[in-house]
Amino acid sequence: MEFAKNEICQINVLSLFDGISTLHLALDKLGISVNNYYASEIERDSISISNYNFPNVINLGDINNWKEWDIDWDSIDVVAGGSPCQSFSIANQGNRNDKGFEGKSKLFFVYLDILNHIKDRNAEVKFLLENVKMKKEWRDKISSYLEVAPILIDSEVVSAQHRERYYWCNWNVEPIIKQKNVVLNNIVDNYTDRYFLSDKHHKAFMKSYNWKHCELNGKGKTIIASYFKQPPHTTYIPCKESPSGFRRLTPLECERVMTLPDNYTKYGIKDGNVNEISDTGRYRAVGNGWTLEVIKHIFSNLIIPNGGAGWKLAK
Ligand SMILES: C[S@@+](CC[C@H](N)C(=O)[O-])C[C@H]1O[C@@H](n2cnc3c(N)ncnc32)[C@H](O)[C@@H]1O
Repeated sequence: MEFAKNEICQINVLSLFDGISTLHLALDKLGISVNNYYASEIERDSISISNYNFPNVINLGDINNWKEWDIDWDSIDVVAGGSPCQSFSIANQGNRNDKGFEGKSKLFFVYLDILNHIKDRNAEVKFLLENVKMKKEWRDKISSYLEVAPILIDSEVVSAQHRERYYWCNWNVEPIIKQKNVVLNNIVDNYTDRYFLSDKHHKAFMKSYNWKHCELNGKGKTIIASYFKQPPHTTYIPCKESPSGFRRLTPLECERVMTLPDNYTKYGIKDGNVNEISDTGRYRAVGNGWTLEVIKHIFSNLIIPNGGAGWKLAK
């Protein structure tokens, strides 16, 4: 399926490992009209944020139960997801999480089963898989299963953050043209002392293998789901009021580095009631998420051709 510009189309989407429905947001922003949006996700806050922003989302729950899902498989036009990455991640290399397909990342095979199930019914289905930078051997294995090579995109082309991710999809994606150089200074907001980096965490940070602080006139490091734990080797910015001299980004600033709308993760809905999401929940949801502008770019290539530079083909 290719969409003509300005054509009104209604697509059915199956979003696996949906997180906070960044895919829905991207499609909306592109003017691609969504008919059914089926979402598989298990994390409570993410589901709640997604339901607040998109009351139409059909929640399917755990991906492992996919054979029991009551959905019209023949109708799916797009299937997309970023399967859990912990055991693929270069950041975990050499530690107990470095298990590749044997660890949490084995959920890739459930994604694959579902994709093949849909392909048997609709050979034209468009698919997207996103994942972290990983060993070549694992990446090649995924490429051979999906029969496409990934493209590597660093979100820094559209945002104030480095976030290198692989994207496998079965349509041509043109390079992203860097519009302007967005730096951390462009996304900073008000903060309180709760965001100061404690001395204890600052010491741990200085001891870590990659402790360089981020400059306000530069890019941040990748925001990760455990940002609320103040781990080493992530984004801390100078802050003169803080005893350690640094602070972490607020949840709103983290949304901005992911190019999400301000306060996208502030509220959730559960059992019909609106509730405020905790900072921890917001950091986790955002750190697990996708960079909106990157996803928009990828899907915009189904609509109109683009050009420029910004990604490279995986070797
Ligand atoms: C890399 S994140 C994807 C986030 C999403 N693309 C977004 O933009 O928010 C992976 C997601 O898979 C979810 N997940 C983990 N195990 C799952 C399972 N068994 N079934 C469904 N989702 C699962 C996690 O909770 C997490 O939100």
